[in-house]
Amino acid sequence: MPSEFELEVNGTLFQIEAPGQCGLLDVLRDSLKLKGAKRGCDVGECGACTVLVDGEPVYACLATLGACQRRRVVTIEGLSEGDDLHPVQHAFLSMRALSCGFCTPGMIMSTVALLAKKEQFTREEIRQALSGNLCACGVFEAVVDAVEALVEHS
Ligand code: FES
Repeated sequence: MPSEFELEVNGTLFQIEAPGQCGLLDVLRDSLKLKGAKRGCDVGECGACTVLVDGEPVYACLATLGACQRRRVVTIEGLSEGDDLHPVQHAFLSMRALSCGFCTPGMIMSTVALLAKKEQFTREEIRQALSGNLCACGVFEAVVDAVEALVEHS
């Protein structure tokens, strides 16, 4: 039975009427038309759907609307300010840390969450932190390079 839920997405408060078990990824992509979080495996294995919920990286394909009630959701669309890319987006572009781009929004959201935790990371810590985001094109090491460069210049 549908209920009304309130969640903040990219700084805007939304009231959404849907069953509480409705998936966050469905709400974002279908109701709010935010297509940046990708539907890959849909079972919590690829990380393509990663968004931030209260600053923590979450697989939107596994999160329910009910669990996100009154929480703060940030998607890849919420990172840039107008034409100004977020520094993580800029680093991925300038370091060519993408190929087909399907995994890129999830990788970037995980990186944003990681860099918010502390300033210094070893390459191995970066690899570990991003291990839940899979890249089928083989640019994972370029992603780690980009994040390492961000860490070095922070
Ligand atoms: Fe959510 Fe793969 S689509 S983890």
